[in-house]
Amino acid sequence: MCGIVGYIGYEQAAPFLLKGLEKLQYRGYDSAGVCTNDDGKLVVQKEKGKLDELKNVTDDGKNIKGTVGIGHTRWATHGKPSEINAHPHLSESGSFAVVHNGIIENYMPLKQFLTEKGMSFRSMTDTEVVVQLLEYYYEGDLLGTVLKVAAMLEGSYALAIMYKGNADEIIAVRKGSPLVIGIGKEENYLASDIPAILEKTRNIYRLENGEVAVIRRDSVQIMDYDRNPVQKSIERINWDIHAAQKDGYEHFMLKEIFEQPKAVRDTVETRIKNGRVVLEEVTLTPEQIRQFQKINIVACGSAYHVGVVAKYIFERILRKPVEVDVASEFKYRDPIIDSKTLTVVISQSGETADTKEAMLEAKRHGSHTIAIVNVVGSAIACEADDVIYTLAGPEIAVATTKAYSAQLAVIYMMAVCFGDILGTISETDYQTYVTELLALPDKIQSILAQSESLKNIASKMFACKDAFFIGRNIDYALSLEGSLKLKEISYIHSEAYAAGELKHGTISLIEEGTLVIALVTYGNLFDKIASNIKEVQTRGAYVLGIGSEEHPELRNITQSSFLIPKTCNMMLPSLAVIPMQLLAYYMAKFKGCDIDTPRNLAKSVTVE
Ligand code: F6R
Repeated sequence: MCGIVGYIGYEQAAPFLLKGLEKLQYRGYDSAGVCTNDDGKLVVQKEKGKLDELKNVTDDGKNIKGTVGIGHTRWATHGKPSEINAHPHLSESGSFAVVHNGIIENYMPLKQFLTEKGMSFRSMTDTEVVVQLLEYYYEGDLLGTVLKVAAMLEGSYALAIMYKGNADEIIAVRKGSPLVIGIGKEENYLASDIPAILEKTRNIYRLENGEVAVIRRDSVQIMDYDRNPVQKSIERINWDIHAAQKDGYEHFMLKEIFEQPKAVRDTVETRIKNGRVVLEEVTLTPEQIRQFQKINIVACGSAYHVGVVAKYIFERILRKPVEVDVASEFKYRDPIIDSKTLTVVISQSGETADTKEAMLEAKRHGSHTIAIVNVVGSAIACEADDVIYTLAGPEIAVATTKAYSAQLAVIYMMAVCFGDILGTISETDYQTYVTELLALPDKIQSILAQSESLKNIASKMFACKDAFFIGRNIDYALSLEGSLKLKEISYIHSEAYAAGELKHGTISLIEEGTLVIALVTYGNLFDKIASNIKEVQTRGAYVLGIGSEEHPELRNITQSSFLIPKTCNMMLPSLAVIPMQLLAYYMAKFKGCDIDTPRNLAKSVTVE
């Protein structure tokens, strides 16, 4: 997620901007830049990589003049990390500068419009259309031009805008992405998040969606898009910087769990156009897609668990055989793949060495590779034939949550899109899937709203030594993720088992008080898993059932239960994973574990 800072006052702006950006580093970034107004000229300095690069070339900002400026840390979405794609962006003649957080969904038609009018573009970003539109429409009324352009933009944005002929104003606009304005004495500030300005002031205004702020040295004027003034009272911040970076959440993991509606919404909504799933990133023709005889999925850890879910979904919907491999095993088992095999690679970081090696192995066999990746410009993204980016934003906690959910969303979209091409889904099912895809964020939100009840369940169970996650079919695939989440952050020994397989050996471990989490969302097999629940209860297990509200009778056959809203079978994992993440989180919290950075683990595993 990008970070924005702004300053207008009587001091030199750039040193403050760089300090502010430092405080926003937790949001994740791959490049950074600042722009100031130096005597009527907009001066921009940007660097790819760490903020230190920018600090070194500018001597901590000291060699950039000007008392008004904006700065940005970019986390790439459109266009790889590079100096050209970094913000601030200047308009063609250098008269406007813009920094942006969010996604301009209609940037393609806007870019085409401006290109036809003779404007040329330097970057691959969606943001550049904003700054170019400002230049194109400007006729002397700065605020009016900003409002006109804002009304043309679809998607989400927080924008900070400077005009070279006006060193006395920064204009900020918000729709979707956060922005706060700091109130100082004869100086004012702007930021994506409070930590960036907390050293200077604790008095802020929060800009709401559809609001515009004209920020001057001695005043802040807030209004709606129709220029109606908006009265706000100053909010006094009492948090410390650390808490503020986590947006008030105790851990990044919890924050990221709660960011899942947005991660799924961003990943899905940009790819549904007029009721159809459009995966523009996939370069395969319908004919090529029809010719694949097999699908091969490689990934590690949680991303592998997404692959196991995908096997159930792809086989059911596409009627093609699917093999899923733990990436570290794939290369060394002499896999049977060729150009008739489609390889799907899943990775949040895009840097996991095992996954990258497996992907290169698949390519060596002539297989077409589609990578589902979160980090733009990462190694896997660069090497894959096609990349479908999850728009989950940077994930800081070591244990993945929102990237897992965004990856699942991409799998659903691939199933729907390819199923349509292969003719394996009916138009009625297609419409149902699209409706359910769009409804997922709100359904996830409704589960998050019940987090207290999971905290309560966790408070009774966190002292357990062993846990077993059981499920059948897609619930089995899901149990793998539930089990990993619990063990990696709470250090409670946990295993995932296909519920029907338990009686073939592992059931000997069940004794009085053993915790069993039974996943019963897949209603078709309700009676079968009900029998498996009986089997473990007879041997003394304490069973927490996670099921669908379509089967409330689950409450009668388990000691404790949690019901998720109804959705189509394919999308059940997206809802059922949420209570499991919350359960793992609260159990680890009650145990006092180091949740965001569990022992022995790294966020990105770049060794084989
Ligand atoms: C578990 C977790 C890991 C990763 C795995 C792959 O919570 O985060 O199991 O899923 O290391 O990482 P990526 O997706 O970056 O390839």
